[in-house]
Amino acid sequence: MNDQSPTFRTSQLEENDGPGHNPTDNATMGELIAARFSRRGFLKGSLAVSAIAATVSPMALMMADDARAESKSAFTFEEVEVGIDETHHVAAGYDADVLLRWGDGIFADSPEFDPLNQTPESQAKQFGYNNDYVGYIPIDGSSEHGLLVVNHEYTNEHLMFPGIVKVVKDDKGDAKIEIAPADQKRVDIEMAAHGGTVVEIKKTDGKWQVVKDGKLNRRITANTEMQLSGPVAGHDRVKTVADSSGKKVFGMINNCSGGVTPWGTYVSGEENIHGYFTGKLPEDSKEAANYKRNGIPETTYDWGKFHDRFDLSKDPNEANRFGYVVEIDVNDPNSIPKKRSALGRFKHEGADSIVAKDGRVVFYLGDDSRFEYVYKFVTAGKFNPDDRAANMDLLDDGTLYVAKFDVDGTINWLPVVFGQGPLTEANGFASQADVLIETRRAGDLLGATKMDRPEDIGPNGVNGKVYVMLTNNTKRKDDQVDAVNPRAKNAFGHIVEIAEEDGNFAATKGKWEILLKCGDPSVADVGASFSTDTTKNGWFGMPDNCAVDAEGRLWVSTDGNSPKETGRTDGIWAVDTDGPARGTSKLFFRVPVGAEMCGPLMLPDMATFMVAVQHPGDGGDDWKPFGRPSYYEDLSTRWPDFKDNMPVRPSVLAITKKGGGKIGV
Ligand code: FEO
Ligand code: CA
Ligand code: CA
Repeated sequence: MNDQSPTFRTSQLEENDGPGHNPTDNATMGELIAARFSRRGFLKGSLAVSAIAATVSPMALMMADDARAESKSAFTFEEVEVGIDETHHVAAGYDADVLLRWGDGIFADSPEFDPLNQTPESQAKQFGYNNDYVGYIPIDGSSEHGLLVVNHEYTNEHLMFPGIVKVVKDDKGDAKIEIAPADQKRVDIEMAAHGGTVVEIKKTDGKWQVVKDGKLNRRITANTEMQLSGPVAGHDRVKTVADSSGKKVFGMINNCSGGVTPWGTYVSGEENIHGYFTGKLPEDSKEAANYKRNGIPETTYDWGKFHDRFDLSKDPNEANRFGYVVEIDVNDPNSIPKKRSALGRFKHEGADSIVAKDGRVVFYLGDDSRFEYVYKFVTAGKFNPDDRAANMDLLDDGTLYVAKFDVDGTINWLPVVFGQGPLTEANGFASQADVLIETRRAGDLLGATKMDRPEDIGPNGVNGKVYVMLTNNTKRKDDQVDAVNPRAKNAFGHIVEIAEEDGNFAATKGKWEILLKCGDPSVADVGASFSTDTTKNGWFGMPDNCAVDAEGRLWVSTDGNSPKETGRTDGIWAVDTDGPARGTSKLFFRVPVGAEMCGPLMLPDMATFMVAVQHPGDGGDDWKPFGRPSYYEDLSTRWPDFKDNMPVRPSVLAITKKGGGKIGV
């Protein structure tokens, strides 16, 4: 039996994100924080805390209501009440309909979902597990007919498979679960449940449906043939036992967030790849330091027992072929996905993009681990809106930059380019391929700013700003705080706003400030900075994914709110970024117990909002009505089917306004 606590697998992977984590001491600027505290974000925060922490009189409440009416929030929906229960909740006046569940067929010949008789073959024809990123590629420009693209980040075996869990007592006498080691069939089902889905969807009479015989429908798994492209392709460090070309890779794994490019391809970030590798590197391998910097191997999954390529002792270079942004041409279901090495190799979160003034395309990239970096990639070529084919290899040529946030509110984007600055042979780099394979070490040497877990980064084409979600970092010590990561033991995360110079997204410098420090604003020690208009339902912790809608409004999804941490589940919060309501947040949707909130995605006409409910039912220990570990035979929720013979199922929901119309207004 593996000794495995019933905590979220993502949390486990983050805990184990590398033995030394980031070993450098770049730019800790604690002594200079005072200078930064005079900036707007801190002032608003101070006022918010003092106003809410004080005893609130009825008169003050009336004044607050008046203020809200006058605050001109961009959002007018009626806020959801925070809480925790077995199901999801959306704002009054909206429907949240299940569109795709784990196991749903996405082809005309897909077998019915049968949880007691799962096979790798059936799973490869069904919607995968743990939906995270959700994107939409219109067909003929429509917001009612298009391709939905969805990442399947990872698997939770204790929720997926019957008969593999034993409940035991831990040292303190509390119940915990142990999961039986995998056999080959289970591993192969897990591999088929990873990857991504491309599926045609259509709105008919106001309701979305999957087009099962859609000609472009596709499942991508941990076994799909892919091509490694860009500067790393063909390098000796990516040649393996099975592939002497260094270009032919099978599968993408732990794809967390992603993006849709301006030319209509699906890009997907490989995140916590360390968990899939096991075994000891041969003594003569030169990859020890590289793998240590990335936490490889971590051995959460048993894949290496049955597939030699995940065992470092048998195939020491395979792990250098994961950790990339993968680009998928959705217009051809037989196209070979490309791992775009020019965008760097690290724990990629999202890959949202925007076309800069001069036509080059800018991709914002987070490396989601504690003390890791924020990146952007600027294509060398320009986007051609009239010739899709001309854009198809834009991601092989361009400049990767890493962010340095200075105390005076300047952000400098430092080129991650071989031969420039410290990225030379003296530091062990012989080419751009070396720099990209060890992107994190390149960032260390460049003196990039170590952040509190950079996740989604959303460029906003309406107000010209860029929003960086920083989930949390409880390991940041008092002497490690800096201007842009101002809280030690940052349990609740924050959001940073970047304004690139002259509104040019391709610029190499800009300005930054903190939009929000998250957490409960009524607890002064937390130091949260929501506006005073934010209600007890409106604040949140742990921002993870974000969506910017066609009107430039910001929607934030969270990962880590729980009964114990914040007295609420994860959900979608709408956050004002402009005008007097800046820093005001409102709860729009919340997930069932144990789940985290992913997606989110507003369609171009703003009449549909897609959200992804990930690992529902993964937890229940700290939820009083349940109060014990949750697993296949004893689940804290059976969302969304609520049938005794159906396990809990991660699902994508389509939210629409009753009677139609724009969401949130
Ligand atoms: Fe998969 Fe960074 O969350
Ligand atoms: Ca994430
Ligand atoms: Ca997440």
